[in-house]
Amino acid sequence: MISVAIDGPAGAGKSTIAKEVAKKLGWIYIDTGAMYRVVAFYCIENNIDLNNEIKVTEEMENICINLSQINEVQHIFLNERDVTDEIRTAKISNGASLVATYSAVREKLVSLQRILAKRENVIMDGRDIGTVVLPNAELKIFLTASSCERANRRFKEQMQKGIEQPYAEVLEEINKRDELDYKREVSPLKKADDAIEIDTTGYPSNMVVDLVLKKLNEIDKSSK
Ligand code: DC
Repeated sequence: MISVAIDGPAGAGKSTIAKEVAKKLGWIYIDTGAMYRVVAFYCIENNIDLNNEIKVTEEMENICINLSQINEVQHIFLNERDVTDEIRTAKISNGASLVATYSAVREKLVSLQRILAKRENVIMDGRDIGTVVLPNAELKIFLTASSCERANRRFKEQMQKGIEQPYAEVLEEINKRDELDYKREVSPLKKADDAIEIDTTGYPSNMVVDLVLKKLNEIDKSSK
């Protein structure tokens, strides 16, 4: 099985790139951020205090996450309920960054992610894929972009969905999540030593997709 790890901060373009590369290759795309979002969603819906690590840890045994591809789109299920769209709010983004700092949450989700990567060729995106989840991935990409560019992309995405949120607020949220993701004790967001760093500021996504495909092609040739 071949695995590609794509890591980077919020809004760097990971999912856009990973989805497109997976589509072109006919591989499975696994969005690990969605799994942390599901944990936050479950806690918020069940009035579990997200700041209470012990309580969130206890609840992990009541959370069963499944992924399924429906019409080429990855859907995520919480205890058999499709929550794909519900987990895409700013509140859930912030909650996901918080529960992602808890080691019991990470352990459970990392083991699920590893099981999924064993079954098929995958492109997995997240924060710790190249460093922790799949340290032997054949290709590791670390995507970055300036925080203003990332906030701008999020802002436009929200507008397209009909969500009006001031740009300054989107930027503040991006900075807050960066702070949590980069500085947490357990598996912080970090470029793996053997990852290729790509700064996507000002680059259209198709150029980045082509670059990733080229790198994969080079690996394929050198392994023959
Ligand atoms: O990629 P995303 O924005 O959907 O991720 C939501 C949060 O989940 C992110 O702020 C940090 C956390 N996360 C993580 O800690 N490790 C991962 N592999 C993926 C996401």
